[in-house]
Amino acid sequence: MITSFFIFPPDNILGQGRSQPKGISKDLSLNDAKIDSIISKMTLEEKIVMLHGNGMFTSPGIERLGIPELKYTDGPFGIREELEKNSWNSLKLTTDSATFFPTGSALAATWNPELAYLLGTGMGEEARARGKDILLGPAVNITRIPTGGRTFEYLSEDPFLNSKLTVGYIKGVQDRGVAACVKHFALNNQESNRGRVNVIVDDRTMREIYLPAFEAAVMEANVYAVMAAYNKVDGSWCSENDILLNQILKKGWGFKGMVMSDWGGTHSTVKAAINGLDVEMGSTRNAFLGRPLLDSVKAGLVPLEVINDKVKRILRVRFSIEPITESRAERVVSTPEHGKIAYKIASQSIVLLKNIDNLLPVDLGKIKKIAVIGDNATHKQASGGFGAGVKARYEITPLEGLKNKVGSLASIRFAQGYKPAFIQGQQGRGRRSPNNRIDSILLTEAVSLAQNSDIAIIYAGTNRDYETEGSDRSDLKLPFGQDELIRRIATVNPRTIVVLVAGSPQDLNEAFQFSSALLMSWFNGSEGGNAIADVLLGNINPSGKLPFTFPVSLNDSPAFALATYPGDNNASYKEGSLVGYRWFETKNIKPLFSFGFGLSYTQFSYSGIKTDKEKYRSDETIQISFELKNTGKREGEEVVQLYVHRINSKVEWPAKELKNFCRITLKPGETKKVTLSVPVSQLRYWDVKSNDWQLENGEIQLMIGSSSTDIRMTKNIEI
Ligand code: BGC
Repeated sequence: MITSFFIFPPDNILGQGRSQPKGISKDLSLNDAKIDSIISKMTLEEKIVMLHGNGMFTSPGIERLGIPELKYTDGPFGIREELEKNSWNSLKLTTDSATFFPTGSALAATWNPELAYLLGTGMGEEARARGKDILLGPAVNITRIPTGGRTFEYLSEDPFLNSKLTVGYIKGVQDRGVAACVKHFALNNQESNRGRVNVIVDDRTMREIYLPAFEAAVMEANVYAVMAAYNKVDGSWCSENDILLNQILKKGWGFKGMVMSDWGGTHSTVKAAINGLDVEMGSTRNAFLGRPLLDSVKAGLVPLEVINDKVKRILRVRFSIEPITESRAERVVSTPEHGKIAYKIASQSIVLLKNIDNLLPVDLGKIKKIAVIGDNATHKQASGGFGAGVKARYEITPLEGLKNKVGSLASIRFAQGYKPAFIQGQQGRGRRSPNNRIDSILLTEAVSLAQNSDIAIIYAGTNRDYETEGSDRSDLKLPFGQDELIRRIATVNPRTIVVLVAGSPQDLNEAFQFSSALLMSWFNGSEGGNAIADVLLGNINPSGKLPFTFPVSLNDSPAFALATYPGDNNASYKEGSLVGYRWFETKNIKPLFSFGFGLSYTQFSYSGIKTDKEKYRSDETIQISFELKNTGKREGEEVVQLYVHRINSKVEWPAKELKNFCRITLKPGETKKVTLSVPVSQLRYWDVKSNDWQLENGEIQLMIGSSSTDIRMTKNIEI
């Protein structure tokens, strides 16, 4: 039977001719009349007080006028534990644990904006219950560098996928009465050197690759707050960057909410104030937007209207969320429902990369002795490294998950296999170097266990100490001697399954060669261990797709091939828009695993591609339909992807660009008709001459596939 599945037009996601959505979120300017009247009653001193933090995670209100302070919390994958008012030290409460939601790259691997929405609601509810007004998330910078320290926290290498997930996440948070703060605006694409680096990027690349998720956050999700990044762009710190903050964000996109600095990321008074920063955060003493700003206004260096505008923006946010007056900091807020959201995301995020002779799912009718090997089998990933973590109410490790699900059907024995350790002196904010020498005693123990078991499951990968804010990884290699471990285990047990627990691309050349089955799991939240066990045992059919390219070698990826990373004072984005798969496709470089790739325990066939017309006008929407069939024996979900390729174009384009996708569930033998749409306006490019979006007429090839390299059908149309 053929059932019909229609995907609605992705409402102008790439910022090309957008209009404000109706009725999805509160209009921030609804209270402007009331706000103007409040501002008219405020003294200059009271106004200035509101423009900088009065503690690490609060900024003042005005008691006299009944305006409560704003309370902030990190984000993005769990509500952070309570800290001392003026330091990063934990208050060491026993009552502030939270749900550990799968981190950004895991969410992105689901390719499911509805799950982003659910995650947002979970975060919003927990923030609310803990008395927080502003959630410092989502973090949506493009993953330009495969070794980037915050790749696990960010989403993907593609602006369209990022935009869809960003919008879902923000709507979820804000629908629960909490302001989302999208970060880090903009071009914070590396951690090493982030506090010094000046990004040099051409306008077209910035508009088409690095800004769309932020633009969608403003135009489609009506985000209430934006956090300026630490780095410089085109010579100016992001927290005082007129082009980014005033021209693009506030004037161009009509952003009505507030811009805050990243913590300690403010560098000046007059320039920051005039160029668009509204609230300085993270500087508890001697704030630039404190006393010096007061003096600057009095000296006539900063006009009063500029100050009034900032106060207005803060009050708009204040009045769009419900203030909480009682203190609720000490609340356990993680609920079973939030655990279910975490599980759902984790179970859709896991990517099957290899499965020789259908070794997976594990058949517990035949497999009686399971060797579980690797530190990541028992390692908790909710916190670690530098930056925000979660004091998880609980976190099921992969070993616990497997034991939960296998019960008495097989025996499970564990060997640590390798020990995570770092080379001394590298643990600060430089690039981190793991100690790659393997512990021979642990190795021998693991090999002997594998030898005496029916299958060996190695939980390999990185951890949150290696993937961390503030520093990038030194290379892509699996750290701590794990390649040797995998090799040795696979030599004694051909039924070796490798599960990667990591938040970013890894060098999997050896793991791929030696394993019989390979899975990418992530920093997958409180329920990560249960989800990966369900995938291994076939209770869940894997359906995650990679949100970024895994190169064969780090030097194949653009920033490394062009030696533009880490940069010293300048990082010149010479690859232009050829980021991630756009580079690999355009330059014909074969990756190890491509963007969008992921196998299933079943198979899907694609047929009958059609478009509703052959030629389209600029104001029309292309409808592409085809049939998708589950040709295997299990129910499964496929993420179908639509890319475009321009034929004989005069303008330079990447060879392929993602323009839509959707997730389809099919029973064995079932066929569904899938329709994907692309508004022609989304095929425009940023024209630097007119400083606007322009359409290039001509022939376009529409490509439907199962990944960026596995294109199953094409159809040419004209615009
Ligand atoms: C990070 C932000 C975070 C802030 C507050 C900064 O170091 O870059 O993402 O929200 O700290 O914790």
